[in-house]
Amino acid sequence: MKVVGGSASLPLARALARELAVPFVDASFEKHAGGFPDGERYVRLLDSVAGEHVVLVQTTHPDPMIVEYFLLADAVRDAGATHLTAIVPYFGYGRQDKRFTEGEAVSAKTLAKHIALDADELLTMTIHNPDILAMFPIRAREVSGIPALGRYLKSVGVDLILAPDDNAVRLAKEAAAIAGTPYDYLDKERLDSYTVRVTPKELKVRGKSVAIVDDVISTGGTISTAAKELKAQGATRVLATCVHGLFVGRAEENLKVCDEVVATDTIASAHTKVSVAPEFARALRELMG
Ligand code: R5P
Repeated sequence: MKVVGGSASLPLARALARELAVPFVDASFEKHAGGFPDGERYVRLLDSVAGEHVVLVQTTHPDPMIVEYFLLADAVRDAGATHLTAIVPYFGYGRQDKRFTEGEAVSAKTLAKHIALDADELLTMTIHNPDILAMFPIRAREVSGIPALGRYLKSVGVDLILAPDDNAVRLAKEAAAIAGTPYDYLDKERLDSYTVRVTPKELKVRGKSVAIVDDVISTGGTISTAAKELKAQGATRVLATCVHGLFVGRAEENLKVCDEVVATDTIASAHTKVSVAPEFARALRELMG
């Protein structure tokens, strides 16, 4: 087995190769220094993968990383790999998981169909809607990224874990079991892509340290609304934690209400503090029997 990493996921791919104790295959992503003037992607594998089972790790965000995934997968196949496991740590377009309005593309399905072209199976992490897995024409599994956050929260010590909405309750419950804390949740209503409203609820957090756990932080609107509620109810410390940290738009400003922001390495950012390499290594070992 050998591990190949796309440029969106190099630290995680290297960490995974170390966890599995298998070689990491370097690749080059620029034909000329500075890349192509029109922004097109380029990939070249710098070591042989002939006859190998290749694990290709590439988050599909931002959009050029999707093209890079296709180039890498095709190059791996052309170079004679006998088996390809795709690891897509953050599956972009997962939130367009149905046709909300007639005529729309079901973007999650579009991505699934094309990612599957060169792959024998897929592992992805903490997805918005697990039903998306059925859209892949190959074996596809969801791996939880929550244990990485749970371990961190156990090490720093928090009094309560909070899900900012219904969708995150399963995540908060899993993190709480690992961190050894109770958990609670808020009811959230999304007004538009940037604005959310939470239903007032007494949380018993006065003087406490609370971690909010979510799958994704995008604009930070969800987390900051929950964090303001916690602070208003007397929480002394609020940690914002997520598996996938997109941090788009005014996210950094919105998140200033939080005392700490923690994300995993499914998307590399200034807030990446924990690695999900052990989670993917375990899932791969299970997959391979
Ligand atoms: C929504 O259901 C997701 O779980 C996240 O809560 C949401 O994507 C976060 O987005 P934002 O940071 O823009 O509020």
